[in-house]
Amino acid sequence: MSLQHISAAKAIPFSDADFDALAQLARREFGLSLAPSKKPLVYSRLSRRLKDRAVDSFPAYLDLVSRPEESNEKQELISALTTNVTSFFREEHHFKTLKADCLSPLQDAAERGRRIRLWSAGCSSGQEAYCMAMTALDSLPPPARQDLRILATDIDPQIIQKARNGLYSAEEVQSVPAAYASKWVQTDAAHPGQVSMHKDLRDLIAFGELNLIAAWPFQGPFDAIFCRNVAIYFDQETQQTLWQRFCDMLHPGGFLFIGHSERVSGSALSQLEAAGVTSYRKIAHSRLPTDRRVKWD
Ligand SMILES: C[S@@+](CC[C@H](N)C(=O)[O-])C[C@H]1O[C@@H](n2cnc3c(N)ncnc32)[C@H](O)[C@@H]1O
Repeated sequence: MSLQHISAAKAIPFSDADFDALAQLARREFGLSLAPSKKPLVYSRLSRRLKDRAVDSFPAYLDLVSRPEESNEKQELISALTTNVTSFFREEHHFKTLKADCLSPLQDAAERGRRIRLWSAGCSSGQEAYCMAMTALDSLPPPARQDLRILATDIDPQIIQKARNGLYSAEEVQSVPAAYASKWVQTDAAHPGQVSMHKDLRDLIAFGELNLIAAWPFQGPFDAIFCRNVAIYFDQETQQTLWQRFCDMLHPGGFLFIGHSERVSGSALSQLEAAGVTSYRKIAHSRLPTDRRVKWD
């Protein structure tokens, strides 16, 4: 048998109907919107998974992931369909706004015992949450940090475990400003070739698994929510529901930071004002001049 015959024999068929069925499941369960143009990418990522599980067709795979005892396989499916690309101080201007406009003005109240709560929603491998922690420690002196906590969540349990470990390559931490790196990035004898996030940062952050389109088992309110480069995978209706839910979770005057190619739309816009590039602030009271309100698109 020629090499060509062997690979042809191993190829798993992937019809448009198979793709549609998978896309429906991804939307229903994870809020993901898979455009038909993603078909080749989805195939290349998932056909490996089918082979690993010795499943010879996509309908059989969908049947398998729907079984209650296959929740781990569902997690594998999420990992295959989503992108975890992230980096330290990605879109650095957000951290400058977090420091100057959100945290520094809260300093006095925090010293008097006010809670400060931040959320990295869709945190991937944790870089965003650690940057929020570095920025918070840099913005708030010790007396103001008494009740400071950061929640960091992602749908993907594998990536959450990586985030919790707080171990990165020297290359990954290159974008951490030197003044921060000298305080909070450490070499780690137990993990040669990697650096670790300082305990002071790790102690501030609670990492957890959370599907953003499911129920949220907490109430807030948060002073700032980062949800960057996540909603881009959702359809517009799912995005608008999410923006409104974030808005409901914010303190009046709290901040919402989103990805560079994302825009808030829908009902949440009537409660938000622009606060910089892809940065929004919940209007503290309803008498804000109309020209400062974010326009509906
Ligand atoms: C491109 S990363 C963004 C990471 C980080 N926020 C940033 O901007 O650098 C997108 C993350 O969204 C997560 N994600 C996708 N769908 C999700 C959902 N329904 N609920 C929660 N997280 C989700 C993925 O697992 C992935 O880690």
